[in-house]
Amino acid sequence: MRYLGNKTKLLDAIAEFTRERGVPVGTVCDPFSGTAAVARHFRALGWRVLAADHMMCAYVLARSALGTAGYPRLGALAPSLDGAAPAAGLPAESVDLARAVHWLNVHAPPREGLCTRQFSPAGSAGRRFFTEENARRIDGAHATLLEWRAAGLVEEGAFHVLLAALLESGDRVANTSGVYAAYLKDWQPNALAPLELRVPRLLADERPHRAACEEAERFVALSAPHYELLYLDPPYNHRQYAAYYHVPEVLARLHTVVDPAALEGSLYGAVGLAPWTERRSEFCVRLRRGGVMRAEAAFARLLGAARADHVVVSYNEEGLVSRSAWELLLREAFGAREIVFRALGYRRYRSDADGDRRAYQRLAGRGRDEVREWLFHARR
Ligand SMILES: C[S@@+](CC[C@H](N)C(=O)[O-])C[C@H]1O[C@@H](n2cnc3c(N)ncnc32)[C@H](O)[C@@H]1O
Repeated sequence: MRYLGNKTKLLDAIAEFTRERGVPVGTVCDPFSGTAAVARHFRALGWRVLAADHMMCAYVLARSALGTAGYPRLGALAPSLDGAAPAAGLPAESVDLARAVHWLNVHAPPREGLCTRQFSPAGSAGRRFFTEENARRIDGAHATLLEWRAAGLVEEGAFHVLLAALLESGDRVANTSGVYAAYLKDWQPNALAPLELRVPRLLADERPHRAACEEAERFVALSAPHYELLYLDPPYNHRQYAAYYHVPEVLARLHTVVDPAALEGSLYGAVGLAPWTERRSEFCVRLRRGGVMRAEAAFARLLGAARADHVVVSYNEEGLVSRSAWELLLREAFGAREIVFRALGYRRYRSDADGDRRAYQRLAGRGRDEVREWLFHARR
């Protein structure tokens, strides 16, 4: 999924840094799991993973990446699905999932639901996040999935895998520059393409992983009495994910609320934002309170609650917290005896809306758009 701060391109570098620093493979706690790219990568490398995020859409992605041991069998559902073969490159055991995905792509009847009414031009607000056709297909696939679940035809693991596939397919056809703070005036080529769910590649180990929708500080303190590594990939600037990803968030929350009509009725403003301030993140706030920066105070509480001997932090060099402040936090709040710093260079992500127009400051000695991700390893 297109997601700010997604570490897909840095997975090998993060894993290599962790290995090089001598962190023993065991349990890793990732309380800012986002797309679950890092959580999934740790899982693939033999770790047991505890992943959380306070966004429900991120939880659905983490549950999909961690919540099954291999491809779910959909025995009760299978007879009513017509034959689709496993996707190219996926194993034979993915066939049930391939059939369910095929059904959602081809046979689930399009319907009018929240997505059509709120996020397509068919609604009274005329929002253009999705074409009407794609919005109706998202609503139809979503409704079918909920019917399967209510009838006991899919278990929770498979349900979340399919819901994650739906959120990801929706993101591929969203008429945005990558975030949902605004939709684009003209339809982009990706938005005009038909919605298509894909079968994800699932991992098969049976370690007791866990995904949760929870506040980071609470998860770090309570998810386990001890884990080997705390991996922190927090937001680094003022952009609040709850506002920037409100569309997938509402779709992910819809089945969890007692009153879906009330949730829909609460959407407001030009982009149909759901009230989100209860998920305002302190880690995104620069303001000082009592002489201390709020983000730093929140990191201090988080590090103080850590149940690990090692912390690895990923943080963008343009973030709210300076390198020296991070080192102080790791020493004082976590109790680090040793801190190692590394900077990884990569090309800045420019959303389509940025194009070439937006001028970012170019730092001395750097290429255009070259930014650095900081990695810290702290041991106590
Ligand atoms: C930089 S992103 C993580 C990216 C992720 N590692 C990936 O590769 O996709 C930061 C995440 O922190 C989450 N977040 C922000 N504040 C949080 C909080 N107080 N508790 C839990 N999660 C939070 C956001 O929802 C977002 O998903």
